[in-house]
Amino acid sequence: MYSPIFLSSHIFDNDLCTFNRFLQKHFDFKFVVKKVKEINLKMSIFTKTKTSIIKEFKSNVKIVKIYGIKNLCSYKAISSNHPLGSKKASSSIILLFYGNGIQSRGRKMSTCENQKQELVSVNESRRFMIDCFKAFNVPQNHAEQQADLLVAADYRGHFSHGLNRLEFYLNDLSKKSTDGAAVPKILKESPATAWVDGCNGLGAVVGNFCMDLAIKKAQTVGVGWVCAKNSNHYGMAGWYPMRAMKEGFVGISMTNTSPLMAPTRAKEAALGTNPIAVGVPAGDDHFLLDMATTAVALGKIEIQRRKGENIPEGWAQNNEGTSTVDPEAACCLMPLGGAELNSGYKGYGLGSVVDILTGVMAGANFSTKIRKWNALGCNEKADLGQMFVAINPNCFAPNFETNMCDLNSRLRNCEPIDPKMPVLLAGDKEEDNMKAVDKAGGIKYLPDQLKTCKELAQRLNVRPLAFVCGK
Ligand SMILES: NC(=O)c1ccc[n+]([C@@H]2O[C@H](COP(=O)([O-])OP(=O)(O)OC[C@H]3O[C@@H](n4cnc5c(N)ncnc54)[C@H](O)[C@@H]3O)[C@@H](O)[C@H]2O)c1
Repeated sequence: MYSPIFLSSHIFDNDLCTFNRFLQKHFDFKFVVKKVKEINLKMSIFTKTKTSIIKEFKSNVKIVKIYGIKNLCSYKAISSNHPLGSKKASSSIILLFYGNGIQSRGRKMSTCENQKQELVSVNESRRFMIDCFKAFNVPQNHAEQQADLLVAADYRGHFSHGLNRLEFYLNDLSKKSTDGAAVPKILKESPATAWVDGCNGLGAVVGNFCMDLAIKKAQTVGVGWVCAKNSNHYGMAGWYPMRAMKEGFVGISMTNTSPLMAPTRAKEAALGTNPIAVGVPAGDDHFLLDMATTAVALGKIEIQRRKGENIPEGWAQNNEGTSTVDPEAACCLMPLGGAELNSGYKGYGLGSVVDILTGVMAGANFSTKIRKWNALGCNEKADLGQMFVAINPNCFAPNFETNMCDLNSRLRNCEPIDPKMPVLLAGDKEEDNMKAVDKAGGIKYLPDQLKTCKELAQRLNVRPLAFVCGK
């Protein structure tokens, strides 16, 4: 038996999350959705329609499971003349659910829930991640370091490198290809340099250790340059320069990563997304460039996949070496700049520089020697190379921070092409994102990410994520 549900034609991700939780709140789920015709994932549920939904469900629907956003995308719906649909715009769609009988839990949604139920506070997200790491016997201090890194990425708007990566790290721990308790050790040292063995520890643990060491050296001799081998994925590269900036130093960090970028003219991947981060203090202000040397970080393609949306031209190529907009067909990332005609070879050059200063210089894996990696984790050790530099700007010309402020304002005050789109500095978007999270009272995660967390909570027997205005 089918039961139609009316939705309007624009569902945003958060609305889908709201919808998911709405259904969970009101019904015992048994089953979901019959395919009829592809729907646009961007749909929205208006309050008005919820009454209709409840009415329909109460009469004849029982749902067992609401699938993640990706699967929902592949469901079909009709742009229909159904009585419920025809009351709305012509682009209205009807989703067909089927099942038998409804068991309403009879709870009402509060206004607060309407607005905030999909929000997770920064502290709660951190708590959840720490619990998950500890479920694999990661020591408290290491679990905290790794969670701080991940939640900072979400807070700053780099969702690809926050909660989105948790499952990857946990599965590596479960397969014992990462040692959650490992403590890095110094192999070779001079006043300004150190070569560190990460001992296959968690990326944040190795990264924090190395950047703190570089800072210590910069405090003594003006500059500290530390290379680590035998490390793991260290998340948002900007995290480490931020530590140096707190001390008034310029910070630089780079890491090599699993091969994903096809060198210009190549059909196959031979370099990673190899990010570069440079952080510079400027009084109350700063400059923080944190970028992959591919057109985008892989996580951005994962996020598009989770949303069921296309990727822009120039991000990735298919297995023929042709640029593709289909995230499922993407097999290699293109270097920063994209095709050769658009100077993609410069991104390729920058990615190579990262591999030289990290993998090659640290005696770690590089290029295609690095394992492939995905959410299921990997049995093989990563042995990534990373570099961390701290520089005391007071070793050079005076008034560094004052001049930095001057530079920042000269750049920001350039006349914009569109007055509604002011000129930004590297790091500004992230600052705006943190403000938006503070204002909203939490981080808005994609429904699919929340689903992954729910499954992790069950699998690891940890307390599930709570929402700011949860049910
Ligand atoms: N550990 C790893 O293996 C790995 C690999 C790749 C990327 N990453 C991380 O992924 C995250 C995302 O990387 P990305 O390359 O997709 O970042 P991005 O493209 O979103 O931003 C790159 C930089 O450009 C700046 N920026 C953005 N818009 C701007 C504008 N209009 N004007 C001026 N500056 C602007 C940002 O502030 C940022 O510093 C980063 O934190 C990166 O470190 C990690």
